Amino acid sequence: MTILSRRPPGLGDERNGEGSEEPHSPFEPIATTARYREPKSGIDPDREKTWLRRAMPIVLAHKKIFITSLVLSFVGLILQVQIPKLLQDAIESAIVKHTGTLSHYIWIMLILAVAAGIAGYVSRYFLMRTAYEIEFDLRNIIYMHLTKMSFPFYDRVQSGQLISRANSDIRSVQMYLTFAPSILVQCSVALVAFAYMLSINVPLALVAMIPTPFVYFLGVQMRKRIFPVSWLIQARLADVATIVDENINGVRVVKSFAAEQRELTTLAKAADRLQWSYVKDADIRARFTPSVQNLPQIGLALVLLFGGWLALHGKLPIAALASFSLYIVMLQAPFQMLGMIIMMGQRAAASSQRIYEILDEQPTVVDRPGAVDLLQCRGDVRFESVDFKYAEDNPLVLDGFDLRIRPGETVALVGRTGCGKSTVARLLARFYDVTGGRVVLDDHDVRDYTITSLRGNVGIVLDEPFLFSVSIRDNIAYGLPNADFADIEAAAKAAGADEFVRELPDGYDTVVGERGYTLSGGQRQRIAIARTLLVNPPILVLDDATSAIDVQVELTIHGALRTLMEGRTTLIIAHRLSTISLADRVLLMDGGRIVADGTHAELIETVPLYGEVLAQGEKEDAVRLTGDDLPEGGGVPGGLGR
Ligand SMILES: Nc1ncnc2c1ncn2[C@@H]1O[C@H](COP(=O)(O)OP(=O)(O)O)[C@@H](O)[C@H]1O
Ligand SMILES: [Mg+2]
Repeated sequence: MTILSRRPPGLGDERNGEGSEEPHSPFEPIATTARYREPKSGIDPDREKTWLRRAMPIVLAHKKIFITSLVLSFVGLILQVQIPKLLQDAIESAIVKHTGTLSHYIWIMLILAVAAGIAGYVSRYFLMRTAYEIEFDLRNIIYMHLTKMSFPFYDRVQSGQLISRANSDIRSVQMYLTFAPSILVQCSVALVAFAYMLSINVPLALVAMIPTPFVYFLGVQMRKRIFPVSWLIQARLADVATIVDENINGVRVVKSFAAEQRELTTLAKAADRLQWSYVKDADIRARFTPSVQNLPQIGLALVLLFGGWLALHGKLPIAALASFSLYIVMLQAPFQMLGMIIMMGQRAAASSQRIYEILDEQPTVVDRPGAVDLLQCRGDVRFESVDFKYAEDNPLVLDGFDLRIRPGETVALVGRTGCGKSTVARLLARFYDVTGGRVVLDDHDVRDYTITSLRGNVGIVLDEPFLFSVSIRDNIAYGLPNADFADIEAAAKAAGADEFVRELPDGYDTVVGERGYTLSGGQRQRIAIARTLLVNPPILVLDDATSAIDVQVELTIHGALRTLMEGRTTLIIAHRLSTISLADRVLLMDGGRIVADGTHAELIETVPLYGEVLAQGEKEDAVRLTGDDLPEGGGVPGGLGR
């Protein structure tokens, strides 16, 4: 049972073949293997360039299938353009002049149609594949970037914003990158068709083109109106999604205040606004589409009028009239789409800016050049005159903070809510970098170690334990996915979770709901403790990790914890006397630094603040554990005090 014995934490699996040489110093680079295929290319980092040029490397990474698609599309369309001309020849020679056979033309036409069909299929298939590969790459590039970003970034951005950027914005950029070139190919073929028309009869070709500018103009007008509405739809969809999301996640609050009706009204209002924008969109489309679709008929009428007159006067073969009408129909689509790419371009430009905004942001907490891996950690922790603030204009949370925890020692950190206890834990694992001073681990600044190896050695159980929507077994094994079941069980036992897990319908295979809602707060905390214990880190930080566990259960966990903390540097952040009693030494924190250091008995005797903080902690505990704690601004909704 490895859990009860110290061993280097979970880095072993990540070593690749090169790691077979004996490490001659505690600092040996560990090559980690990438877990999934990296995108072939990223965006151009040069911010001076236009958005399109910055996106080019991603498109070029797929240039083979993309160019194949465009070439085939061109070939298919050129084949199609032959058909009206062929029709004209067929009518001329086989029907009017009886110089050729009709079947000859029919065969050629069928072959052309089949060939154009095949080219059309392959080009469309490759075009869509290019589109989705670009989308896949963009999504991976953004996701990889997000995983690299540091905590300060996540403190600032809204997750809803990130998700929308990772979805709709990627879509609109991807659409433009692939469809704009394809539409341009179609337009170039339209020019070829027009050249054919000119070769048959110049004045008639010009007359036939009269409606085309109107088609283009109407297309632009339509998109101009639809464009703002489509943004509105996007925004309102997001509003509705947010309300639904909050109602599901916050269902306990909603129900405890009996606020269902109010929430329904809020949702109905948002849904109403969404519906209005959808109807508006349909209205605009309904107004324009018939005119755009029927303009070619005007072209046909003009051809019939002028071409008919020419034919009557023997200046145009009848057959040319037939081919002209086919060309006109063929020409309209590209011009309609030309208006579309202008709009798509504007939208893609806006979307790309939002994506680049994320990608251009650099992580602040990164491995410094020449950073080494922390191996065989002894667990000697020192904070040396550490100053820290979360943001430039925030006040100092730590102000000349000094702390020493010797290897194997267990220390309790006590202080008022908001005095910076969790911040100390976060700095130790380098979630943030210090503003001044330094955090030292085993005689080296934590910034000298690679972040992965540092975090592999510092196990933190956070006070707000987040569980994934997977089985309890997988939740516990999160930090060590290949762990044996025996080890998982041992970790659960040590955290006091084994007993209640076994009583669940599927035991360790029970899937916990989003945020582990099917479990109580105390149960979630115990799973979170087991998750960290399994990794078996040489340094253990329990950040209010037992606050929601009731005192009796906690006492039974203590036995196991005592064994586990042996030989391991442990920092316990706690407000409960029973938890504090696990520690060899108690540190009292106030005003951003340690103000008292000693055993519990010493502090309670000599430091009045210590007694106050403990009393406050016990009071909060009483509220928490009797379940009387109502959400902020509690009381009867709309009732007293409003
Ligand atoms: N991510 C953050 N961004 C800005 N300020 C923060 C952040 N986290 C905590 N703070 C502030 O830092 C102070 C210390 O917080 P914290 O270390 O969580 O306190 P404790 O754990 O002692 O209750 C508080 O005033 C809190 O408002
Ligand atoms: Mg805290």
